[in-house]
Amino acid sequence: MSLAERDQQVIWHPFTQQKNRPLPIPIVKGKDSLLFTEDGKTYIDAISSWWVTLHGHANSYIAEKIYQQALQLEQVIFAGFTHEPAVRLAERLLPLLPGNFTRIFYSDNGSTSTEVALKMSIQYWWNKGETKRRKILAFKNAYHGDTFGAMSVSDRSVFTLAFHDLLFEVIFIDTPTKDTIDGIKAIIHQHSTEIAAFIYEPLVQGAGGMKMYDAYLMNELLNTVKLTDIICIADEVMTGFGRTAKFFASEYMHNKPDIICLSKGLTGGTMALGVTACTNRIYQAYMDDDKYKTFFHGHSFTANPLACTAALASLDLFEKETCLQQIEWISESNKKFSAELEAGWYPIKDLRFLGTILAFEIIQGADGYLNSISSIFTQLAMREGVYLRPLGNSVYIMPPYCITEDELECIYSCIKKLLTQLKGPGS
Ligand SMILES: Cc1ncc(COP(=O)(O)O)c(C=O)c1O
Repeated sequence: MSLAERDQQVIWHPFTQQKNRPLPIPIVKGKDSLLFTEDGKTYIDAISSWWVTLHGHANSYIAEKIYQQALQLEQVIFAGFTHEPAVRLAERLLPLLPGNFTRIFYSDNGSTSTEVALKMSIQYWWNKGETKRRKILAFKNAYHGDTFGAMSVSDRSVFTLAFHDLLFEVIFIDTPTKDTIDGIKAIIHQHSTEIAAFIYEPLVQGAGGMKMYDAYLMNELLNTVKLTDIICIADEVMTGFGRTAKFFASEYMHNKPDIICLSKGLTGGTMALGVTACTNRIYQAYMDDDKYKTFFHGHSFTANPLACTAALASLDLFEKETCLQQIEWISESNKKFSAELEAGWYPIKDLRFLGTILAFEIIQGADGYLNSISSIFTQLAMREGVYLRPLGNSVYIMPPYCITEDELECIYSCIKKLLTQLKGPGS
């Protein structure tokens, strides 16, 4: 039996309908931007393996650091104990974060980082005796993860349909545009004394289809939110670590968050780790003789030393000029490619880009995640040696920063070729 067949006997893959599922593709090796299959094929990973891989697959610098740490201390309970990688990472991260953050709370993935943020902000008000502030404000079309709290503050969509009656009530608002901003402000004023926190993906709504919105208007919105004392939670699980050409997308706005959530690229995409950082205002609400005001939250692998070491190694790589130059160069290339697509009469709409992320919708069938063009596009792209995974009819690229000029060009050519095929003969 092949590996793929053995897989199908025992494994249940995420986001995958189990009936008539195709055989999964065994990957035997990754190097830089490339993935190598068991049967000798090579794919350029144009989406950084679910937006995590920053410095390329099997990065030898990060791998060596993890190996050395594994020989020293692989895991230890993080209540009552501490270790150098966790402390060092917090010390290095805090000054890099967009705002006056003073504390790092570790967990182990993006969903847990947002769960922690939600619980932290709701209990903040509870600890202060303000028991009316229980609601969360969130954007329509948002995605903050797959656990129950994270699902609650995410869009009511195909991802959450089976659970709608079990999710807590959230006040959903549009992302800010000139047309929506006044209405949004009115909603915030109307509910301001009952809202504990506002959670948002700054400037790019990832799983919602890489939808982008305006920084100036977002700043204005944050202004209103801040004036009403609502805690601002920036979910930078996807946008963090250079994806939008700034180190954090929150840097595009003058108004900074009170809590920030990080994961994915935090470890360079090599190991599972989540961070929820908060300002002193939040932290101080938990400083109390009353034991009930403790933040009773933690995970077995909280602050895993190997994951923290990987994150430190990733930060080392950011300190090398080449990484930032690469981000700049990819962003510039995306801009040029975007102009090319714009001029090409392709069957696409809503072309957009921010830093290393570029996206557009294919005009074919209904907009949305269930549009089957996604799997067709993936298969055709793979024939060209490129791995793309559109979110429904939203095609996007988000390459690792180590991508070469030739590889990026190959992704662009592949997209143009497939869009030309979609245009059909004679059109
Ligand atoms: C903005 C955002 N928040 C949270 C998550 C959840 O992260 P994870 O998949 O690690 O649980 C994701 C995942 O795509 C995300 O894009």
